[in-house]
This record gives sequence, structure tokens and C-alpha cells, in this order.
Amino acid sequence: MTTASSQQPQSGAERPVLTNRQGHAVFDNQNQRTIGARGPATLENYQFLEKISHFDRERIPERVVHARGATAFGFFEAYGTVGDEPISTYTRAKLFQEKGKRTDVAVRFSTVAGGRDSSEVARDPRGFAVKFYTEDGNWDLVGNNLGVFFIRDAIKFPDFIHSQKPDPVTFERQDPNRAFDFLSQTPESLHMVTLVFSPRGIPAGYRTQQGFGVNTYKWVNAQGDTKLVKYHWMPKLGVRSLTAEDAANIQATDLGSHTRDLYEAIERGEYPEWELSVQLMDDDEHPELDFDPLDDTKVWPEERFPLRKVGRMVLDRAPENFFLENEQIAFGTGVLVDGLDFSDDKMLVGRTFSYSDTQRYRVGPNYLQLPVNAPRAKVATNQRDGQMAYGVDLADGQNPHVNYEPSILGGLREAEHPTHDEQGPVITGRLTRKRIPRTNDYQQAGERYLLSEQWERDDLVANLVDALGQCDRPIQERMVWHLLMAEDELGLRVGEGLGINPDDVGHLEPLPTQVLSDEERARLANLGKNGPRDVAGREMTHCVPNERVVVERCRAVRRPAARRSRPTAAPPRTSRRRRPASTGARARCPHPRCCARRGPSTGPWPPGS
Ligand code: HEM
Repeated sequence: MTTASSQQPQSGAERPVLTNRQGHAVFDNQNQRTIGARGPATLENYQFLEKISHFDRERIPERVVHARGATAFGFFEAYGTVGDEPISTYTRAKLFQEKGKRTDVAVRFSTVAGGRDSSEVARDPRGFAVKFYTEDGNWDLVGNNLGVFFIRDAIKFPDFIHSQKPDPVTFERQDPNRAFDFLSQTPESLHMVTLVFSPRGIPAGYRTQQGFGVNTYKWVNAQGDTKLVKYHWMPKLGVRSLTAEDAANIQATDLGSHTRDLYEAIERGEYPEWELSVQLMDDDEHPELDFDPLDDTKVWPEERFPLRKVGRMVLDRAPENFFLENEQIAFGTGVLVDGLDFSDDKMLVGRTFSYSDTQRYRVGPNYLQLPVNAPRAKVATNQRDGQMAYGVDLADGQNPHVNYEPSILGGLREAEHPTHDEQGPVITGRLTRKRIPRTNDYQQAGERYLLSEQWERDDLVANLVDALGQCDRPIQERMVWHLLMAEDELGLRVGEGLGINPDDVGHLEPLPTQVLSDEERARLANLGKNGPRDVAGREMTHCVPNERVVVERCRAVRRPAARRSRPTAAPPRTSRRRRPASTGARARCPHPRCCARRGPSTGPWPPGS
């Protein structure tokens, strides 16, 4: 017997009936089963207990990093060529071979440090993870929007992330003093710092950010010959970024601005598009270079290793259910298809263990049976059972009694290797724990500063002064020392903002873990007086135009007002483009007294602090 209220509104026969997960019809979804109308409740209250206990388990652990993100779906279309050469010269990966061939993709964009509901305009690298559902199984390209990373050895990742997360005692916020405590002792992070603290550290939206594989991979052709490869995604809309001030104005009222922008654009039929290019290098150590090509704190100079286009990607579908397709999607750097391979990049090897390890914990050991993660290619394994097993990976005609290999009783067999099983250069060495010899931690950081647009440089300096202004003096001094080692002007400007000049830090010895090159020792002897680095002819990854989207906050309205001038096509690439501080008129507020109007130099870090 149920109360009258539970019957409303009256259902027609066409409305589907509510059931529980056992398929039992639910007769009353408003009242527990009780003894009399006032209780007590009974323990055999199956429907109530099932409902509430499932609710109690609705969350899975959020990702330990990249918890905040948004997934969208679409396709990758191959050009069949790499630049103007047939792509088969370098890789046999089937998805690339044929002009116009389309492969379904899922892409998840994310921030790194914040929790699942954190602000999407935080200063942070953005994850750019692409899952290609190819005929040969899945390929995941798990990258970011900045092209490099803070560290080059995977063993430092947990320390790095701990330093970026809130204080374990107070858990108040991301704390610059802790973040720069780590960064100031990690000189290889300097290149990434010059990007994250520039406007590129706050993309205006997921649709207008670049993407990079960051780590170095290999391509393998039909003969088994290998090349080193780096991947670049360029947004068709061009690159747009925010200052800390713009970001603060957005997150005052909106934490999910990037997800909303992405899904609304797809709903309007404005499908975001990126072009994929690669850089190729012979597969060896390249002793002629002043950096190690496998070092993920470096970009490869584009004037020597030009970008070659290989295809385009379009996103035309938002998830039907955010949890199923965003929270449960699982990417990993180990997920490659034939024709693609790993390099010996020490970060890549460490990452490759970490991703599927965390997903077995976060989603469960059978996470690859979930539709969003399962390959479109037929799966036939001898893996069985485990929590939440959804099916048995049987091949057509396979003897279901044989879940082992080898067998002559109708079990699975091994595939034929497409070529010989030995590839790449011969590697010799003794077991050791050593950093790579060509660290060169300052050059690209300095070049990056010089090749940035003027408004980016000004914003970078302002953001560093703001963040370091919240740090202890020894941390400030070491950071100014590093910045001077990178580029005089950068170090002098940040130093000026902090009240630290080169004489204050000239006495500092290199860090105990640092081995300076002859050139670096010469810079140190002349700290702050080395003159600008020579960047003539240098084409650096990221030195593409970056448009500021100016956002002002009007407290009289709920939503931030964003103005952007929309380019109709991707702007031309240039290595040294200069722009004035702001590319468009600011949005005019009808309520002048209530708008936030601070200059970028006072923009907080972390935003909102
Ligand atoms: C040794 C270094 C690294 C380790 C150990 C590591 C580990 C992890 C872990 C544990 C996750 C969570 C995965 C999940 O729960 O599904 C993750 C996510 C992610 N990482 Fe890393 N990571 C490393 C470096 C990097 C680098 C260098 C990049 C960029 C090039 C990167 C890009 C990403 C992205 C995009 C995600 C989010 C994937 C998604 O959207 O589900 N990581 N990483």
C-alpha cells in the first residue's frame, strides 16, 4: 500500500516502470517499509538497502592527478603522408597509411593538481589525452598542452606532485612556498616554469590549446627501421590564453568554464579541430645536439626538425554520461599499436607502469572491459575473472575450456611478428643510478623567454614575482639565481620585483646535485651580465601566436563577460611574434564601480588565493 503522493503524477501506460537492479518493479519509491506509518523500519527492506548502499558507493577514487577533466569523442583523419612523403616510409601503423582514413577517438582534457570539482582556469598544465580506437587495437597518446615537463626521471613524480598539492597538515591550498621549495631544487623544471607561469599556463579553453605527446616515442616501418618521434596538436581556432586576472574573474562565478565551453560548442555544431604534426629524428643518441633528445624537459628545435603534418582530429560528440565516459575512461602511455613503439625516455618508462597500475586500483582490474576503454578490435585473451568481470575474452571458435597457451586443444595461438623482433640501436651500459649527461637546464628556458610575445613575458614576470613573493627568502634567492642563469632580463626583472639583485645571489654555489657545463660556469661567473642569448633563426615549439582573451567581472551579473576576436583560420606560424599587451578592447561593463580591474602584475597565484 502506498500513499497518494507517491502516485503523482499519474502515469500513462506508455511510461516505463521503475525497477531495481534485479529487475523487480518498484511499487513505492517514496516510503521505506516500516511497521506502521511511523516506523520502526525493517531490515528486510531490500529495495531501500540496495538503493542507499549503491548510492554510498557512487564515487570511485578520483584520479590522483588530472582529476578535473572533460571527455569528448570524434575522429582522426589521416593524410596518408608525413609532410610530403608517404608515411609508410617511417611507420607501418595502419591508422596513418591511407589518405582520408578515419579512426574513432576519445579525448580527455584536464587540469593536473586540483580535485574533481576544482576550477578549470587554475594555473596548471592541461592534460591532452587521446585514445585512438584503431583496427589494431587502442593507441593512447597521453600528453599535455605545454610540450615539456618539470622533471625527467619518473622516480621524482610523487615528490613533484606532493609539492603541488595542498599542505598535508593544513590542506588549505596549493602553497607557492612548497611548490617553489621543490622547483628551486630541481633546475630541470625551469623550462616548464617559464611556460606554466606565462599565459600559456591558463588556456582560455580546451578548444584553443595546443597538445603534445611530450615524451619521445618511436615509429617503426615495414622493414623494422626506427625513427624517434614527437607529436604536436595545433588547434584550428589558434591558441588563446588568459592572465591570472582574467582567470580570477571567471572562477569568481564559474569553476567548470572549459567543460561548458567544449560541450556547448559541440552542441552548436562548432566542432573543435586540431591538426597533428610530428617531428622525426634518427634513432640514436645525437651527440651533436647540446641536449638529449629523450629529455622531456626539452623541445626539439623546429628549424632543424621541422613539423610534418600527418592528419587532423575533429571532436563532434559529448559524453552521454559523464561518469561512464569521463570518470571511467583510462589512458596509458603503454597503449601502442603495431608501427609505434617506446623510446628509452626514463619518464616514459616510469609512466607506462604507473597508468595501468593506478587504473586497476581506481576503476578496477577489469577496467578494459568497460565500453569506453574496450578496443574496437576483437579481444581474445586468457585473462579471466577478477572483480566486476563483465565477459570472457573468447575468440570465435575458441575452445572455452582452454584458458592457457600453448595448447593443441583449440586454444589461442601467438600472432606472427610483422618483421624481425630486434630493432633500434644496440644499447650497452652498466647498472647505475645516474642523471643524463647533457642536462642543459637553462638554455631553452632562456630562449623561451626571449621568443615569447611581449605580453607573455610581462605576464610571466608578474606571475613569478607574485608567487615567489609568498616564498621564504632562500627559495626566492635560489629561483632568481636560476632565472639569471637562464636569461639576464628574466632574472633581473623578477629579482627587481622581489628586491633581489645579482650581487645578492652571485655567491650561491650550484646545487649539490648539479654539474654545470663549461658554458654554464662562464654564465655563473658573469651572473646578470651575460647579455641576451642568440635566438636568431631559432624556431621553438609554442612560439605560435597567443591571443589574450580579456575577461572582466561584473558583480551585477552572474556570468563573466568574455570578449575575443575570432580568427577565421589558424594564424600563420612564426617564431618571433610580438604583440601588444591586449589584442582586443576590454569588455565594457555597464556598472563601472563594481568591475574587478586589477593589472596582471597583481594577479594572484594560485588564482583565487
Ligand atoms: C613519471 C611521470 C608521470 C607519472 C608517474 C604519471 C602518472 C599519472 C597518473 C597516476 C595519472 C592518473 C591516471 C588515472 O587515474 O587514470 C596520470 C594522469 C595523466 N597524466 Fe601523468 N604521469 C606522469 C607524467 C606525465 C606527463 C609528462 C604528462 C604529459 C605529457 C602526463 C599526462 C597525463 C594526463 C593527460 C593524464 C590524465 C589522463 C586522463 O585524462 O585520464 N603525465 N598520470
